[in-house]
Amino acid sequence: MRYRSQAVAYWYFAVAMVLFGLQLVFGLLSAAKYLGPDPLLYILPFDVTKVIHTNLLIVWVLTGFMGATYWMVPDESRTELHSVKLAYVQLVLWVIMGVTAIIGYLFRWGTGNKLLEQPLPHKIVIVIVMLMFLYNVGMTIKKSGRFTTTEGVLLLGIGSAALLYLPALLHYENYTVSIYYRWWTIHLWVEGVWEMIQGAFLAYLLIRLSGADREVMEKWLYVIVGLVFFAGILGTAHHYYWVGVPAYWLPIGGFFSALEPLALVGMAVYAYSAMRRSGMSHPNTLALHWTIGSALFTLFGAGLLGLAHTWPSVNKWTHGTLITAMHGHAAFYGAYAMIVLAMISYALPSMTHGRREQGSAVGYWAFWLQLAGMFGMTLSFATAGIGQVYLERILGLGYLDTQLKIQVHFVMLVATASVFAVGVGLFIWDFFRYRPRFEVEPPSDVERGVDVPPPTSSASAERYA
Ligand code: HEM
Ligand code: HEM
Ligand SMILES: [Fe+2]
Repeated sequence: MRYRSQAVAYWYFAVAMVLFGLQLVFGLLSAAKYLGPDPLLYILPFDVTKVIHTNLLIVWVLTGFMGATYWMVPDESRTELHSVKLAYVQLVLWVIMGVTAIIGYLFRWGTGNKLLEQPLPHKIVIVIVMLMFLYNVGMTIKKSGRFTTTEGVLLLGIGSAALLYLPALLHYENYTVSIYYRWWTIHLWVEGVWEMIQGAFLAYLLIRLSGADREVMEKWLYVIVGLVFFAGILGTAHHYYWVGVPAYWLPIGGFFSALEPLALVGMAVYAYSAMRRSGMSHPNTLALHWTIGSALFTLFGAGLLGLAHTWPSVNKWTHGTLITAMHGHAAFYGAYAMIVLAMISYALPSMTHGRREQGSAVGYWAFWLQLAGMFGMTLSFATAGIGQVYLERILGLGYLDTQLKIQVHFVMLVATASVFAVGVGLFIWDFFRYRPRFEVEPPSDVERGVDVPPPTSSASAERYA
């Protein structure tokens, strides 16, 4: 830790870990219900467990983003945070919002708008929290006078994510109108501005971990962000195929969303080649696993499995089936869960007693079990989904009859999800088993070498001296 205020990040990460664990409990409960019989049918039905599962996901990933930002911004701007107190007040408000929302869902208090189920008072708290967050980060950068491109992309991502949440505050009686605007938040988050956040963390980690040249990395970051925007905005229309809007959205959605994976190919090549070209100048190989892993798994889950069902002639069969769940899991995990776990793995050794930079055997088990488990879960959803589409949508079998015929895939889902859950359990244990320590240390030789380019490159030396 180079700045005392970076300690704030530890508490955000700790909260994220607890909520991640809880998310899986509700995921396993949801999966078990596909197998039945369901003793909790009247206490915790599927819709409630699924809402809690997905809302916990969004809350813990955003908590991770906030923690990672509070870690990264002092490092990049070389200064203490503007207000540590404000950062803690923000965390407390955020946790109260999250916990009460979950309790509310147990009593069916929610808007029913998928992934945006938070009741209005909670939504208002979310907006307040985001404003506090942006103010704190903005003031920190302003105070320091040092603003890197990586930070710029991160801030643009966070600011736009806050802005895009605003349509979710409105309520529409008409279902088509409601769905139309829902995607402005959900799609433009995960296929637009959150990818900027992921891209910024990726660039930061690669610069630190691989020793890649900052100017080259930041130039590529611009290209990727540009591509995401170009394809992602009109790509929103891949959610408009069957919601009651004019038919011209079909070709627009198909064409532009099919271009989106290009940006993800760019990101994976970017990450892999940075590692190959610059070698490993940092001992934290565990964080590097998570970093490169995130870029590659995003290409698989979002790029490949997104492309698999984004064309209208395919989507008319697969829309809203387990094929969507297949893609949703792999994409969300690769892009947003893994990048948060990468930032945690990078930051943690300098915030805890006795945790080795290189990571421990437990840390590597956590990585590989999660990867294997999530890959297996993706295959389970995929095979179940293919069966479902064929039996229900093509042969015309009833929904419940179909579900009975694809039970074996849910057995596979629970088995592979259990492997995944052990991996997550190990990560959480590895997080909490070392006591936190918040001593400020000067940067190591390696870090100094990484961050400050040699004086031969005069432009960068001037900029970063
Ligand atoms: C990191 C990036 C991505 C994430 C986290 C993600 C996540 C998700 C999630 C959670 C859903 C379900 C949403 C809902 O029904 O409320 C979804 C739907 C969808 N995604 Fe993605 N996605 C990503 C990128 C992509 C890309 C690049 C493509 C296309 C190439 C794509 C194509 C689709 C399509 C077509 C649907 C609608 C499925 C349906 O009709 O039921 N996604 N995505
Ligand atoms: C123990 C591990 C997990 C299990 C057993 C599990 C199970 C499930 C089940 C059964 C559903 C409902 C699918 C449906 O509507 O038919 C679901 C939804 C979802 N889960 Fe998970 N999950 C797990 C972990 C995760 C993780 C780690 C993520 C993301 C990083 C995630 C993201 C999602 C998303 C985005 C949805 C909504 C998908 C949609 O509506 O299409 N889950 N999960
Ligand atoms: Fe989308």
